[in-house]
Amino acid sequence: MSAVDAVREIEEQARAGLAAASDERALEAWRSAVLGRSGSLTGVLRSLGELAPEERRALGAAANRLKGELEAALEARRDELKQTALRASVTAGALDVTLPGRPLHRGRYHPLTLTLREILATFERMGFATIEGPEIEHDAYNFEALRIPADHPARDMWDTFWLDSGGEWEGAGGLLLRTHTSPMQARYMETHEPPIRIAVPGRCYRYEATDATHEWMLQQVELLVVDEGVSMADLKGTLQEFARAMFGPERRVMMRNSYFPFVEPGVEIAVDCFACAGTNPSCPVCRGSGWLEIMGAGMVHPEILERMGYETERYTGFAAGMGVERIAMLRYGVDDIRNFYQNDLRFLRQF
Ligand code: PHE
Repeated sequence: MSAVDAVREIEEQARAGLAAASDERALEAWRSAVLGRSGSLTGVLRSLGELAPEERRALGAAANRLKGELEAALEARRDELKQTALRASVTAGALDVTLPGRPLHRGRYHPLTLTLREILATFERMGFATIEGPEIEHDAYNFEALRIPADHPARDMWDTFWLDSGGEWEGAGGLLLRTHTSPMQARYMETHEPPIRIAVPGRCYRYEATDATHEWMLQQVELLVVDEGVSMADLKGTLQEFARAMFGPERRVMMRNSYFPFVEPGVEIAVDCFACAGTNPSCPVCRGSGWLEIMGAGMVHPEILERMGYETERYTGFAAGMGVERIAMLRYGVDDIRNFYQNDLRFLRQF
C-alpha cells in the first residue's frame, strides 16, 4: 500500500469512528487512537523522515491538513453531542402547560360551624359577649333554677338523658346532659351583676325520636340581656334585626305567644317555610303550617331575677334560645336535619 493510500484509509476509518463515538469517553478513546502519541495519524507523521524528499513534501502536506481537519471534526462532534444531551434532558423534564390542573381537595367548614359563626358574629356586632357553659349539668341549673321543679309537667318539654352519678349529686337532683343552654342564664346571673348581654352557644341533648326536624343532639345559642329598662320591644327589635341579618329582608318572621316556665310572657319565633311557602300540607319541614320555629324567647321571669338578688324594681331582662340546625336549614335550604350529622361528603362538599 502506498503511503498516500495509507493516509486515505486512516482518514476513512477516523471519520467513521468519530461519527460512531456517542459520548465523552468514546471521543477520548478515538482521539488517543488517531491523534494521540501512538495514534495512527501520529505514526504517519513520525515516519515522514524516512521518505524521499519529493514524497515527504506531498504526504506531509496531506497528513498535516488531515490532522487539522480531524482536530476540528473532534470539536464539532463534541459540541454536537453536548447539544443532543441538552435537548434530551430538556425534553425529558418538559411540562405540558396546556394540560388541565389537578384539582386540590381543600378542607372546608361544616355548615353548622359556618352558621354558628354567623349567628355569634351577628350578636357580637350588637354587643353580646360569647360565653360557654358545661354540657353535663345539674338538675338544679337545668330545671330547678328555671322554675321547673321535679314534678312540674313542663319537664315533659325536655325528654332528658339522665346520668348515673353514683348518688354523689343527688342533693342537686342528679346529673344530666343539658337539654337546653338556658342553665347558663342562672349560672351567669349567679356570678355577675347587670348590665348583662351574653350569647351562649352549646350542644344540648334530648331523649327523643329523630325526624326531619328533630335530632337527639342539637346546638343552641342562648341570649340573655338584663339591664335597666329592658322591655319586650328590645326583645322584638333584637330578634327581628337578627333574623334580617341571617335570612335577608324578604323572609317573613313571626312572633307568637308561647310558654316557658322561666319567662313571662313567653314567645316563639318562626320563619316562613323555605321548602313549600305554606303550600304543601304534607311538607316535611313545616308540616304544612308554613312556618319553621327557630327559637323560644321571653322576658326573664321576675321571680328568677329576685332569686339572683337583683332589684326587680330596677332590672328587667329578656332571654332567647335558638336552634342552630334549624337556622342552618333555613339558610341553606336543607330539608332534613339528619343530614348534618351523617358525615356524607356529597352533602358536606356543597358548603
Ligand atoms: N330553653 C328553651 C328551649 O330549649 C328556649 C328558650 C330560651 C325559651 C330562653 C325562652 C327563653 O326550648
